[in-house]
Amino acid sequence: MDRFLVERSGPLRGTVEVGGAKNAALPIMAACLLTEEESLLDGVPRVTDVESMLNILRVLGVECFWNGDTLVLRPGGYTGWTAPYELVSLMRASVCVLGPLLAKQGRARVPLPGGCVIGLRPIDLHLKGLQALGAEIVMDHGDIVARAERLCGNTAHVAGPSGSSVLATANVMMVATLAEGVTIIEQAACEPEVVDLANFLIAMGAKIVGHGTSIMHVEGVSRLRGARYRVIADRIEAGTLLMATAMLGGDVLVRGAREDHLRAVVDKLIEACVTIEQEDGGLRVRSTRELKGVEVTTLPFPGFPTDLQAPMTALMSVSRGVSLMTEKIYPERFMHVPELKRMGAQISREGPSAIVKGVERLSGAPVNASDLRAAAALVLAGLVAENCTEVFGIEHLDRGYAHLEQKLVSLGARLTRERSS
Ligand code: EPU
Repeated sequence: MDRFLVERSGPLRGTVEVGGAKNAALPIMAACLLTEEESLLDGVPRVTDVESMLNILRVLGVECFWNGDTLVLRPGGYTGWTAPYELVSLMRASVCVLGPLLAKQGRARVPLPGGCVIGLRPIDLHLKGLQALGAEIVMDHGDIVARAERLCGNTAHVAGPSGSSVLATANVMMVATLAEGVTIIEQAACEPEVVDLANFLIAMGAKIVGHGTSIMHVEGVSRLRGARYRVIADRIEAGTLLMATAMLGGDVLVRGAREDHLRAVVDKLIEACVTIEQEDGGLRVRSTRELKGVEVTTLPFPGFPTDLQAPMTALMSVSRGVSLMTEKIYPERFMHVPELKRMGAQISREGPSAIVKGVERLSGAPVNASDLRAAAALVLAGLVAENCTEVFGIEHLDRGYAHLEQKLVSLGARLTRERSS
């Protein structure tokens, strides 16, 4: 397994371009299963989760290849309806093939995604939503088996105790595009990635209104066509780069970062004494590295994203005073905390909250990343720590960040990847 060697660095200077959003690309790739026609996708990041989704699509019978930076997906008359366990177990987002397979093939078999280091991740809302549209669902040998003779529009709710589900909204929306009549999706997720999927489906000929709000209307059509589409820039990568500059100090233009996708994050960074301004198709961030502690609660969009909780906790570790991080989406998503503590961070846990007492300096240590956002947090912590930090588990980082280390190095950060032979 590869590891990073991370040295104390900074300040960061220059311009960096944000890549396409993994969490927008994955459901959009799955949506290609709704048509026989070719789709061309630009801006899809070259990360291992995208490779996993490509492998699933190939098993289902879709011809997939890269033409330069454009991803070409040719479903043709694919007949597959079973997603293999070996691939689904690599990535929970595989569940977003469930809706398109059901809508197009009338049946789908997808292994129930297993446990996950960020906590319990049930899929009851996906199943209830699909059942509302007429799917019959049974569990068989650990697989979800869904069938439908006829799918009909209905009202579907896609929220649970922690708020709306992003991928349940995606699955129900995709099925509704080909169901008879109108589907009303109540308490729909409003995340930019859901809006991006809706825009792609509209480009395919779907009739959708209300995306980006909590009530969506989808009027079913008899068929969808292929489309050419560019996925949005990755707001989580953008936020990670803003936080890196905030922690290391400097002056960086994060090109492609959108204030409307990152408002809660920008507000908190400004409160922490970072300067952020909109400029030239991006956000310019300036920091003296003198940061002030803040209180943050993760919430569904437009709230502070759970996917930036770990990097923000690393930032809090070196901010003056006491910070409070409360995780409302995945209350157990704190696997990075013991690793940050190994580097000298002063963090205590109380239920879904982390109380962070800022320290002057972190100190380098070997640390292990449990998931991709934890990996990003440990890299940021390593960049402000004394001595060298070895970050293990960076295969997790590679699942969702494309070229993060090259981007940070281009701004002046000191980290290298040691490849295992
Ligand atoms: N939930 C349920 N029942 C369900 C589905 C979800 O109770 O059927 C709960 C979850 O346990 C959680 C909350 O609802 O408490 C929200 O989960 P959601 O379903 O929205 O998560 P997801 O759609 O499976 C996507 C992202 C995650 C991101 C979450 C929240 C993709 C591929 N994944 O997951 O991204 O954390 O939304 O914003 O889009 C990441 O990129 O690191 C990542 C984990």
